[in-house]
Amino acid sequence: MKVLVVGGGGREHALVWKLRQSPQVKEIYCAPGNAGIAGEAACVNIGAEDIPALRSFARQQAIDLTLVGPEVPLTAGIVDVFQESGMRIFGPTGAAAAIEGSKVLAKELMAKYNIPSARYAVFDDPDRAAGYIKANGVPCVVKADGLAAGKGVIVAGDEETALNAVCSIMVDRIFGEAGRRVVIEECLTGEELSILAFTDGTAVVPMVSSQDHKRAFDGDKGPNTGGMGAYAPTPVCTDKVYRQALDEVLVPLIRGMASEGRTYRGVIYAGLMVTAEGPKVLEFNVRFGDPEAQPVLSLLETDLIEIIEAVLAGRLGQMDILWKKGAAVCVVLASAGYPGPYRKGKVIRGLADVPPEIKVFHAGTARRGDEIVTDGGRVLGVTAVAGSVSEAADKAYAAVERVYFDGMQFRRDIAYRARQHS
Ligand code: AMP
Ligand code: GLY
Repeated sequence: MKVLVVGGGGREHALVWKLRQSPQVKEIYCAPGNAGIAGEAACVNIGAEDIPALRSFARQQAIDLTLVGPEVPLTAGIVDVFQESGMRIFGPTGAAAAIEGSKVLAKELMAKYNIPSARYAVFDDPDRAAGYIKANGVPCVVKADGLAAGKGVIVAGDEETALNAVCSIMVDRIFGEAGRRVVIEECLTGEELSILAFTDGTAVVPMVSSQDHKRAFDGDKGPNTGGMGAYAPTPVCTDKVYRQALDEVLVPLIRGMASEGRTYRGVIYAGLMVTAEGPKVLEFNVRFGDPEAQPVLSLLETDLIEIIEAVLAGRLGQMDILWKKGAAVCVVLASAGYPGPYRKGKVIRGLADVPPEIKVFHAGTARRGDEIVTDGGRVLGVTAVAGSVSEAADKAYAAVERVYFDGMQFRRDIAYRARQHS
């Protein structure tokens, strides 16, 4: 089978790495890929958002199956375009992916199908949004309705921050049209949990649980990022929380989407806050998380192609998905300045000194002659598997010591919550 993976980050590297282990996969292409992916797949110089060019490429190369990593092509309807051309592709249609593309839609569906989530209000007028903040007080969370590369959410502890967030999103339009509307939410407290699941529109099969570290600095300080590290499984996902996440969130969502004419097939990601009242939804994503995909796929025993085939054939309910025992930890190495402006082109040293049992997934990297250089905010995801989260974290951090680039920043406390639990 010839497979095309769309995207070029750490998540897509993990997908390529996992797909290569399938005896059914003969050739893998990745568009656009990165310097690490290039060692495991044929990289194609087409952007992940250039749907017409991706379709032409897939047709010319007679690609048997396409997997899409990022949300932008999914919400733009890449799955519909491929399906209309008679090509097989794994992921939700544009109508289904809209639950990530519009936070307003996600909130409306959660309200309609009684899925636990923060109280909220929606505004298309900045003055009315400001009035609501003044009347209801802080803390609150201000969210741009549309996609904003993971940066459109501001958790505001004081009124000034909340009002500034409304102003930059709705008046200055720092996220463009995504800021035409805002959602203002009650601020939830608790521990965060990512539950990713495969679904064929009927059956919902959760993956091993995981936890991201969104803030830039140790101790969950600093600005929100795309994710500075993740591990799986997480002790916050007790049996009770797992059942609640499945019965109160994922199953009603997938049923509700089907009855809305937005039948959902692919990977669904629920970002949850485990509050004193049980898990509540922070957001839905319509794809694998990044970096969650790195530890989660590291623990997946079953052939990913077999799972995808079951999803596409609508027989996921008959499938047993197996996970490795133990735990996986991914530590993200980022460029100085990330998530703000950063420089590219710094030479990465020491990759060859990382022990072979540690997997270094590449995110923002490029090749320059014989060297591998930084080419993005998140650069590498150093990922280790071991018997426990603590052991996996120790192994990952020992490997991090081997790698160096100018300005390299990373959190030293990935998985600290699991370590506190144990
Ligand atoms: P989102 O992209 O919606 O998941 O938001 C990014 C991050 O903002 C989440 O991972 C949480 O850390 C935080 N967040 C979002 N919504 C809330 C909320 N209602 N209460 C507290 N924190 C939130
Ligand atoms: N790690 C968060 C995300 O993928 O959106």
